[in-house]
Amino acid sequence: MATGTSLSDVFPFGSRLNERGRLEVGGCDAIELAREFGTPAYVVAEDDLRSRARSFMQAGRDAAHNDFHVVFASKAFPCTAVLELLAREGLWCDVASGGELHLALTAGFSPEQIVVHGNAKSEAELRMALRHRVGLIVLDNFDEIDRLERLLAEGAAGGAAGSDAVLGGQPVLVRVAPGVRGETHEKISTGQADSKFGFAMAQAGEALARVERVEGLALRGLHAHIGSQLLDLESFRREAAELARLGDFPVWNLGGGLGVRYTEHQPPPPSIEEYVGAVVAAAHAHGRGADRRLLIEPGRALSANAGVTLYTVESVKRNVSRWVAVDGGMSDNLRPMLYGAVYEAHVADRFRGASECVLVGKHCESGDVIVRDARLEDPKAGDVIVTPATGAYGYAMANNYNGVPRPPVIFCRDGDARVVARRESFDDLTARDVV
Ligand code: LLP
Repeated sequence: MATGTSLSDVFPFGSRLNERGRLEVGGCDAIELAREFGTPAYVVAEDDLRSRARSFMQAGRDAAHNDFHVVFASKAFPCTAVLELLAREGLWCDVASGGELHLALTAGFSPEQIVVHGNAKSEAELRMALRHRVGLIVLDNFDEIDRLERLLAEGAAGGAAGSDAVLGGQPVLVRVAPGVRGETHEKISTGQADSKFGFAMAQAGEALARVERVEGLALRGLHAHIGSQLLDLESFRREAAELARLGDFPVWNLGGGLGVRYTEHQPPPPSIEEYVGAVVAAAHAHGRGADRRLLIEPGRALSANAGVTLYTVESVKRNVSRWVAVDGGMSDNLRPMLYGAVYEAHVADRFRGASECVLVGKHCESGDVIVRDARLEDPKAGDVIVTPATGAYGYAMANNYNGVPRPPVIFCRDGDARVVARRESFDDLTARDVV
């Protein structure tokens, strides 16, 4: 094994195999991390996350769009430390529920930097958004407009003067389903005409006119999000062209969706710079001057490759296949089960193995497969296994199936590791019981 070998960009920036042939993330030895913090564990290279955030912001400046904002889709990694880091970097935050709004506010995003989404916002969630005077509420359907109108008439926005949201009304965008189907898994495709999100293009005019008539709402513009894990920039261009058909508004929010690479065998996705360049150019091509506000909402492209998951092998057995079972699985990463997502795996101190095996979790379901065709080097009980690219929608969709406590989040930087979210305990599993 070569010393100090750098790894593919599926791993966080700066990851390498150290002189002992062990994975190092954020300068921390994975075997030592596993020993110190236990497994399974989500490990995040803090500098990687920060650097991607900076790349997004810089790409906006390079594209010469003055009023450009990067809004983190908090659903990708709704962990306070992640949100705090991104808030400090100057990003805004997209939330899709009252709980995510609570997390964003707790992490230090100022309300005017928060964009509130949802196709089924409750009255309580709308009240909360109004009370905090969030930067934008993204309207999804006529029922929601009715509900907001009623809440505003009841004074739910509060009477205090001094904020734009109160003086000029609550700023809102109208979300449309632009009829653009990007190439991705059907469960994460949203922009097609037959979508549960947003207004149909044919109804957008009526929705916009309706919003204009509601006292207390300030119509700022349009939103669309065509889907997730998109690798082709053309769909974003088509999205911009569709929005342009609806008229000229001060704000466009083009959603998120830039895809990432999960294994080194997959082709590289467009870079952050290429993506931002393409969406800004598309906006300009449709007459959006550099002074028109442009928002994008990346989630996965900011955090997926900043994180890896560490597991410990509990058992290895052979029948038709060789089964390598670890101490986590579908409770910490649902993506293989939900979307057939493909990951790579390695023994953390014996990379690039050759033995074909199925990396499975500890849950009582045959579908609890983390990597179907893993290639591991002589895996044995006690080995630490790493799956890279788990920094988006892993922690977010973690669950307690089979009473498995959710893993901690460990931030690593320059060789220092710190727990930013602790492992759940068995007591946490019963903490909500009412006896
Ligand atoms: N904006 C809106 C309105 C969204 O609904 C989403 C994702 C994003 C932004 C961020 O998309 P991203 O940049 O991360 O692709 N659980 C699935 C992903 C669901 C995405 C839902 N909405 C997964 O693990 O692939």
